[in-house]
Amino acid sequence: MNGRRRPIPPPPLRTGGDLLRHANREMRRAGVSHGQGFLGPEEESLTLLGHALGLAWEDLPSCFRRPVSAEAATRFLELLRRRTEDRTPTAYLVGEAWLGGLRFKVDERVIIPRSYFVELIPEVIPAWLPPAERILRVADVCTGSGCLAVLLARRFPEAKVDATDLSDAALEVAAENIAAHGLKGRIRLHRTDVMRSLAGRPRYDLIISNPPYEPEKVLRRLPAEFHREPPEALVSGKDGLDVIRRLLREAASSLLPHGALVIEVGGLREAMAREWPRLPVCWLPTADGSDCVGLIHAADLAAFTRPGRRASTRGATGSRRKARGRSRGR
Ligand SMILES: C[S@@+](CC[C@H](N)C(=O)[O-])C[C@H]1O[C@@H](n2cnc3c(N)ncnc32)[C@H](O)[C@@H]1O
Repeated sequence: MNGRRRPIPPPPLRTGGDLLRHANREMRRAGVSHGQGFLGPEEESLTLLGHALGLAWEDLPSCFRRPVSAEAATRFLELLRRRTEDRTPTAYLVGEAWLGGLRFKVDERVIIPRSYFVELIPEVIPAWLPPAERILRVADVCTGSGCLAVLLARRFPEAKVDATDLSDAALEVAAENIAAHGLKGRIRLHRTDVMRSLAGRPRYDLIISNPPYEPEKVLRRLPAEFHREPPEALVSGKDGLDVIRRLLREAASSLLPHGALVIEVGGLREAMAREWPRLPVCWLPTADGSDCVGLIHAADLAAFTRPGRRASTRGATGSRRKARGRSRGR
């Protein structure tokens, strides 16, 4: 004996529970970011374990106390390595993401679905519109994986949905998701800049968009995981408003009189208020209190963007007051 203590070997990783505890510790130690559809390391570890074992989420408890095969444990530890060292987001490692209880295929061609629209499509947005069976035309601008187009088609069963994106690669993924949900006959994909190729088509009852909205300099500061997502899905020019500017103009001439434009804008609420102080936006309530999805009534949008009027000095029409009354009543 030379008096030196031997390092204590780590406990063996035998059961599913051992692997999960190990992964939670490793993710905390590595300081991974969980902002891409997960709330914390526990959800991510469970998702990776389910993938490594080929088990559905609801069947995972069966492995918590049981030994896991050496092959499955190796697969899991490799996924964990890619998550903590390469910072590959969990959704890309397992090839899927869930939104609104639905599965969507994802890979590095598309942003990982996590939009606030999942909270608003079921009840809040329909409350502003005629009854769902009278909603016949809907557009999802900047569709990415197609996730919101699918949620819209399911919520408005009589509607045809036009979904746009500028990225061919994203549209390939969207096409797969639309087919997987059996909605090829109702959702049409358009490769176009914002809404350009939709001009001249019959007008819409509802246009929604979760556009890229990060200012260029914000992207540089985001954790490494976000740099695995397509930059064009996150960034929109110097101030983040490039796509939103276009969308306000193009949606104005594409909405039916009773329609609405609904946009997710992340941290840009103040920037929008500065840029368009008189644009009447109703900020819809979201569970985390960020309330960063704005609804603009067709009439307000048309008045706001009318040629010859300076948008930034336009006053609100009556719709905002009406909107407030309606949402308070719910
Ligand atoms: C934030 S992602 C939203 C994807 C999806 N709607 C979701 O919620 O997960 C924005 C999408 O807009 C697309 N995009 C960026 N600039 C665009 C433009 N000028 N016209 C159309 N689509 C654009 C990107 O390719 C990306 O798929």
